Amino acid sequence: MTDLPKTYRVKSFGCQMNVYDGERMAELLGAQGMTAAAEGEDADLVVLNTCHIREKAAEKAYSDVGRLKREDGSKPVIALAGCVAQAEGAEAKNRSKLIDLVVGPQAYHRLPDMVAEVAAGQRPVDTDMPAISKFGALPARKRSGPSAFLTVQEGCDKFCTYCVVPYTRGAEISRPFSDVVAEAQALVEGGAKELTLLGQNVNAYDGGLDTLIREIARIDGLERIRYTTSHPNDMTDGLIAAHAEVDKLMPYLHLPVQSGSDKILKAMNRSHSADSYLKVLDKMRVARPDIAISGDFIVGFPGETEKDFEDTLAIVDAVGYASAYSFKYSPRPGTPAATMEGAVAQEVMDERLQRLHARLAEHSLAFNRATIGKSTRILIDRKGRLPGQMIGKSPWLQSVFVETDAKIGDLVDVEITHALPNSMGGILQREKVTT
Ligand code: SAH
Ligand code: SF4
Ligand code: F3S
Repeated sequence: MTDLPKTYRVKSFGCQMNVYDGERMAELLGAQGMTAAAEGEDADLVVLNTCHIREKAAEKAYSDVGRLKREDGSKPVIALAGCVAQAEGAEAKNRSKLIDLVVGPQAYHRLPDMVAEVAAGQRPVDTDMPAISKFGALPARKRSGPSAFLTVQEGCDKFCTYCVVPYTRGAEISRPFSDVVAEAQALVEGGAKELTLLGQNVNAYDGGLDTLIREIARIDGLERIRYTTSHPNDMTDGLIAAHAEVDKLMPYLHLPVQSGSDKILKAMNRSHSADSYLKVLDKMRVARPDIAISGDFIVGFPGETEKDFEDTLAIVDAVGYASAYSFKYSPRPGTPAATMEGAVAQEVMDERLQRLHARLAEHSLAFNRATIGKSTRILIDRKGRLPGQMIGKSPWLQSVFVETDAKIGDLVDVEITHALPNSMGGILQREKVTT
């Protein structure tokens, strides 16, 4: 028997859902009487909440584990959590002797028990994907920052040929409506002004994401609702209509397309075409003309030719993305694309990624410039670098710098005065609106 840890640190490396899981693990450990280690101080327990989406994820996780060894040769209790833990399972214990426990994204409600098992001399592994939801076993939400994540749907049944998520997160499952509404209420009572509803395919939420959004919008004190990530095939007319009708629903849509080439989309098993994707956005723009569109792109998928890549640039131009993420294709062991022919050379991928970045930056700058002169409301979420400067998010998810004595969590009205590709400057319009 060794002592139970008294302090913990959770490090999250993945998507928003991974960040959400990290927060819930921290709350779970807190409910056991552990305290968060102060910045710069050693923790007795370190949870590495890993991501497996792109290359060398596992290698990176193991080297992060190695770096937790202290100068005096001691080490904290090390928990490998998240999607690498799910993918590696018990094998992780062989690859690194330093790892004390391995817990997958669907099993982390068991973390406190597993930590106790470590203290009793064991090295537990739990990567089960139980039918019973972990959510019921987690403590109630108490405190929240002004902008909070809320997972409403997990897993994925789409099986895009490049992607590990259906394997690390399991099948698509929606949380019960009333549980989600209760958690939303608790987060707002705990201080949240904005909620971002999360799911790998959040718009495939059972019972309709729009119905859920309309219900959550009734919560007093909640000012803003966002959701991510959506699949083009699940953009229902109801959800599109919600953008026209629900004031609290922000004019922003993250809708990954991955490629503009129908040949590549087919090989990716995306089950939509470039054209059907554009049609969804046309409808959305009728409902909400000012909507900011964001997306994800993969360059260098096996078989991608220069012509296919030009189709991607063409769809970028057709959409005029306000922001976007782009990645080089990374073969993931066990996925169908990993064994496809037609690998694209690294130099070609690098060159395409650069061209895509440049094109996307032009569009974000154009989008941002078009908001100059507009009056809008921002939700302050952090301090700026200069004294008296704060940064907040516009409805279109732009970061806006403003000089103000408003605090984090305040909503203030600003006029946008200048624009860069990734940030905006504004001046205060009048005194803060709500606190
Ligand atoms: N469920 C979401 C998010 C998936 S992961 C969706 O379908 O949009 C986030 C992004 O990572 C994906 O949209 C894709 O652009 C990228 N991605 C996923 N697997 C990848 C891989 N093997 N190589 C490169 N990028 C990948
Ligand atoms: Fe991965 Fe495709 Fe599912 Fe998104 S929709 S999580 S890219 S399999
Ligand atoms: Fe990464 Fe897992 Fe999210 S692989 S992107 S942390 S679902």
